[in-house]
Amino acid sequence: MAAGGKRVRPTLGLLVGNMLGAPLEKLINLGAAVELLHTATLVHDDLIDGSLLRRGIPTLNSSWSPPATVLTGDFLFARAAKLAAETDSLPLMKLFSETLAIIVNGELTQLFTSHGLINRDNYYKRIYAKTASLFEMISRSAAMLSPASDEMIESMRDFGYQIGMAFQIADDILDFNGDQSAVGKPLGSDLMNGLVTLPAIYYAELNPEDADILSLSNGGWTHHENMSRLVEKVRSSSCTKKAMLEAEQHIDRALVHLELFEPCIERDALENLARYIVDRKI
Ligand code: IPE
Ligand code: IPE
Ligand code: MG
Ligand code: MG
Repeated sequence: MAAGGKRVRPTLGLLVGNMLGAPLEKLINLGAAVELLHTATLVHDDLIDGSLLRRGIPTLNSSWSPPATVLTGDFLFARAAKLAAETDSLPLMKLFSETLAIIVNGELTQLFTSHGLINRDNYYKRIYAKTASLFEMISRSAAMLSPASDEMIESMRDFGYQIGMAFQIADDILDFNGDQSAVGKPLGSDLMNGLVTLPAIYYAELNPEDADILSLSNGGWTHHENMSRLVEKVRSSSCTKKAMLEAEQHIDRALVHLELFEPCIERDALENLARYIVDRKI
């Protein structure tokens, strides 16, 4: 935790909750719960992916055994659940556990279907499960803790959903064209690990006859040379830009929801947060 991280999720929760008049103490518990849940999923994700760097420092799995790493992740999950319970809200606890199930189910599905699924619908389902679901959950929960109408809660749920989808698309683009020292985690690794993300899906759709794409159905995934050539081709194509346009569409859909609320500093900050998500370099 001391290594930082952007703390995007609690920021979202605090801004939504403050805008709608939720009690600050509950918002802080909610934000801490969600950030710990997020951190726990990263501890497990880095172990699964064999990633050695996160937030610019070595990951737990780079120096600890898998059992110790798994158990540390579990410990963080337990602390996250306790903090969520501190909000004294049963509907929120339900949402919290449902979201955790969606994330874990998404990671499991990804584990069994990577290497070769080049399909946009599958991609959208995956990024909803692993990322947008948590953004949706914190934004919706913060609204639920406040005296907001059902219409406002639904607006904030979709606001979180849209910026969450954009956030993961931006993360997937950064994996191709980000600056390694700024991002603080290994880049170019999604495709190398058999994970096909939006820029690569666009590339495959636009270049169905590309020899490296064709070779994927014959075990091309395991050939390091094939794969690093493919990463380079996606990087230098227009496909990262095309993916960015799609992320920006999600941001536009998110921003429409803010019009429902009176102008205030939280509303301005939410607008800035939404724009930052597609402009960020880290
Ligand atoms: C990384 O999330 C995992 C994804 C969902 C892309 P963040 O980019 O929010 O990671 P930190 O917390 O800032 O390190
Ligand atoms: C991780 O997504 C999301 C979860 C841990 C649920 P990514 O695999 O894209 O995250 P990074 O790129 O390793 O941060
Ligand atoms: Mg990962
Ligand atoms: Mg990533």
